[in-house]
Amino acid sequence: MSELLSGLKRTHMCGLLTESEVGCKVVVMGWVQRRRDLGGLIFIDLRDRTGIVQVVFDQSSGDVFEKAEKVRNEYVLAIVGDVVKRDEDTYNPNIPTGTIEIRAKELKILSTSETPPFLIEDDVNVSESIRLKYRYLDLRRPRMQNYIATRSRVAKIVRDYLISNGFLEIETPYLTKSTPEGARDFLVPSRLQPGTFYALPQSPQLFKQLLMISGCDRYFQIARCFRDEDLRADRQPDFTQIDMEMSFVEEDDVMEINEGLLKRIFGEVLGVDIKAPFLRLTYHEAMARFGSDKPDMRFGMELKDLSDILQNTNFNVFRSALSKGSVRAINAEGCAQRFSRREIDALVDLAKDFGAKGLAWIAMDSEGPKSPILKFLSEDEISGIIRRLDAKTGDLLLMVADEDSVVFDVLGRLRLYLGKKLDLMKKDDYKFLWVVDFPLLEWDEEEHRYTAMHHPFTAPKDEDIPLLDTEPQKARAKAYDIILNGVELGGGSIRIHSTEIQEKMFKVLGFTRESAWERFGFLMEAFKYGAPPHGGLAYGFDRLIMLLTGTDNIRDVIAFPKTQNGSCLLTGAPSPVDAKQLRELHVKLDL
Ligand code: AMO
Ligand code: AMP
Repeated sequence: MSELLSGLKRTHMCGLLTESEVGCKVVVMGWVQRRRDLGGLIFIDLRDRTGIVQVVFDQSSGDVFEKAEKVRNEYVLAIVGDVVKRDEDTYNPNIPTGTIEIRAKELKILSTSETPPFLIEDDVNVSESIRLKYRYLDLRRPRMQNYIATRSRVAKIVRDYLISNGFLEIETPYLTKSTPEGARDFLVPSRLQPGTFYALPQSPQLFKQLLMISGCDRYFQIARCFRDEDLRADRQPDFTQIDMEMSFVEEDDVMEINEGLLKRIFGEVLGVDIKAPFLRLTYHEAMARFGSDKPDMRFGMELKDLSDILQNTNFNVFRSALSKGSVRAINAEGCAQRFSRREIDALVDLAKDFGAKGLAWIAMDSEGPKSPILKFLSEDEISGIIRRLDAKTGDLLLMVADEDSVVFDVLGRLRLYLGKKLDLMKKDDYKFLWVVDFPLLEWDEEEHRYTAMHHPFTAPKDEDIPLLDTEPQKARAKAYDIILNGVELGGGSIRIHSTEIQEKMFKVLGFTRESAWERFGFLMEAFKYGAPPHGGLAYGFDRLIMLLTGTDNIRDVIAFPKTQNGSCLLTGAPSPVDAKQLRELHVKLDL
């Protein structure tokens, strides 16, 4: 039943036809969105990626009409016809082509379709697993087309901007050696060298540094990265970075070029004028004020330290926490009035789910503060807390006492929870900031050693280099993260460019000299032959597109994404392979 094009050429895209084509003969091609049969008249809504146009068949057209009767949803058609203006009472204000239609003269059925498992519409009620299994149908929906088109558009803006700023687009290998970015590697066995493995890159980090040593000066790549880690709403095992590196720069230079890039992207795609330079917070300030190194700055509700007020308290819970941590609080303004006792108890449970031992609260009732813990606190302590939190009648004060890391994490998450619940975060409010001066190292309790907070190639602050020998935990890094509305969009750093400091860094990280050279000798060797000072940054491209399109689901902005357990529901990957393939690779399974 399907016909061939046989030389027929498309003249217009469906959604782009306008009244200026009225009177023209056009050829359009696309999918049937809907067919309505009104007896002597058949209407077909034809869809391509630009939109929909209405095509009319009337009985007097003979063969063509009979053919149109056979057409069903998602058939692929080529239509030759005349564009005419519709009668005013039949205008469709819901689509841009709503004042015109095509009177069909010829119809080719290029392909038929079975009834699809779901309607090709934006607000279709279907599970995500069915959408992923039939991804090619899912991608036909206008919203998905918009995600894909936005992604393509942003890639072009990035290329144009960076190339005009002197960057070269350079590809780096997928089959390579492990690049540590804190996740597990995906490994690929080598057939030619039995018993050896490539690692898929967690990022192009080492290659982009080598490109600086190669004299490329400024590099970028829209690069695929591979990380075997537990997946979340904003993580995929293979994801895309806008990755860049620059020679002869310091932190400010990298930040400035990137403020220009983000300004351009948000201006062109959303028409939003972002003000640069962006706000900068040190890591410590971000943690102290927002309990997070990626604070959402669209609302206040900042954390306040109550430790000094409570230093001599008789309340056991607080006193014991103060010996190794702090007591901090947020003011959920108006929430004592808004929330029932049951809702406050639910907040306590939530704080415990977040890892707190408890959540102390004070409700600012019209008759005065109310709380189960008031009896443990002195008048001065209570009034000190109220003053510190600027509390007014109706406010709800939430306090956590613990080690700092727990206090920050719990209050930071409670703050976000309340921000969402109270609708304090507007989707079209874009609050960018840089978080800077990260600690260079983190202590890994399990492995009992330091790990690099960013990666092992990040340079310490010049003045903190001596600390590497004495108090490495106090050293700060020349690292910066770019944050938008509570999302870590990207991160980068100025790099170490000397063998000596790189060796020292590996030593602090617990590598022996031999193991460091075995894994990263190629980089340290390269440092011996003239390495320019350099630094760079990488964005999560998928996350950037999520923020630009307003979706919370990273899978929406990736054409063929994977599920939470790393499966591709369309192809069935990952899947077992033939015994023959395994033999060729000298791989034996031990299941
Ligand atoms: P980093 O590891 O911070 O830095 O990664 C940069 C950005 O990539 C995004 N990202 C992810 N997006 C989706 N799924 C994932 N699994 C995932 N992991 C990371 C985040 C993150 O900010 N080489 C360094 C960059 C540099 O130093 O120049 C790097 O990869 O948005
Ligand atoms: P308890 O002595 O465990 O009954 O706790 C007394 C009050 O202090 C309760 O309201 C608890 O929710 C609260 N609380 C307990 N531990 C903490 C903590 N680590 N931080 C803040 N409040 C706590």
